[in-house]
Amino acid sequence: MASATLSLLLLTLNIQLLLLLSPQTKAQTPSAPAPSPAGPVNLTGILDKNGQYTTFIRLLNETQQDTQIESQLNSSTEGMTVFAPTDNAFNNLKTGALNNLSPQQKVELVQYHVTPKYYSLSDLTTVSNPVPTQASDSDGVWGLNFSSKANQVNVSTGIVTTQINNPLRQQFPLAVYQLDVVLLPEELFGAKAPGSAPSPAKTPSSSSSTKTNSTAAASPTSAKAGAGGRNAVGWGLALALGLFCMGALS
Ligand SMILES: *[C@@H]1O[C@H](CO)[C@@H](O)[C@H](O)[C@H]1NC(C)=O
Ligand SMILES: *[C@@H]1O[C@H](CO)[C@@H](O)[C@H](O)[C@H]1NC(C)=O
Ligand SMILES: *[C@@H]1O[C@H](CO)[C@@H](O)[C@H](O)[C@H]1NC(C)=O
Ligand SMILES: *[C@@H]1O[C@H](CO)[C@@H](O)[C@H](O)[C@H]1NC(C)=O
Ligand SMILES: *[C@@H]1O[C@H](CO)[C@@H](O)[C@H](O)[C@H]1NC(C)=O
Ligand SMILES: *[C@@H]1O[C@H](CO)[C@@H](O)[C@H](O)[C@H]1NC(C)=O
Repeated sequence: MASATLSLLLLTLNIQLLLLLSPQTKAQTPSAPAPSPAGPVNLTGILDKNGQYTTFIRLLNETQQDTQIESQLNSSTEGMTVFAPTDNAFNNLKTGALNNLSPQQKVELVQYHVTPKYYSLSDLTTVSNPVPTQASDSDGVWGLNFSSKANQVNVSTGIVTTQINNPLRQQFPLAVYQLDVVLLPEELFGAKAPGSAPSPAKTPSSSSSTKTNSTAAASPTSAKAGAGGRNAVGWGLALALGLFCMGALS
């Protein structure tokens, strides 16, 4: 009882001391809102944890679709779904299939693995085909077709079909599913594409190269915005703790 009272006294003393020492913290502490419960969704973090998506992570970064997805998630009410091919899936592509793509085509390939809407596995059993992807607003259809039987869902591009197995995350606003093959869009790898399958890709047309820029433009500044305020609160807290410990020892 007595020691509890003493602790309380010390704590009060320390808080007063802190307020005296740090006018800036004093101004912030009473009004600072609690940090929002769920930080921004970290797609790279989700994939990184599973350890078998290094190629896809590299592509997401290289095409700046990682920041695109994270900032789009922040403002979207629809959520998003990412179909993440494993490293094995990329290794099974024909030699050069990836390297022969232009930067613009890499962006389209990555966007083809992302839908601007959240789908749980059971949502995918009832979607109407073709389902638009992030690549759909450019040229052509760039849709994915889903089929299901007894809760087993397949996704098809017209070139490849694969089962959707392992949900890495299935929680609005972001679903992430493992894929054992790379979804090859007909628009890049089909008969309709300029030159068939893994032939050297066309150089990007000047009209398409603008898209790479615009996707990159929105995100980098917004990602930084949240960090500053939280840091100040964090330092204040650390200082308070430190002073408290000093008080407890003395
Ligand atoms: C997201 O996760 C990656 C890998 O774990 C990490 O390097 C990165 O700092 C994280 N980004 C944010 C904004 O937390
Ligand atoms: C992403 O790519 C940029 C260069 O475009 C690089 O500076 C950065 O370190 C990369 N980030 C990760 C997490 O790989
Ligand atoms: C999914 O595809 C596999 C072959 O890849 C096939 O055996 C299976 O019947 C398909 N299932 C559905 C629901 O379409
Ligand atoms: C996808 O489904 C739509 C509608 O059922 C169909 O018209 C289209 O041919 C299908 N595409 C592929 C590649 O299977
Ligand atoms: C857009 O990208 C192209 C090449 O990718 C580059 O030449 C051009 O300067 C970029 N424009 C802007 C506004 O960044
Ligand atoms: C998310 O949106 C809010 C408000 O629209 C903005 O203040 C914040 O910077 C955004 N965060 C990211 C990571 O884009």
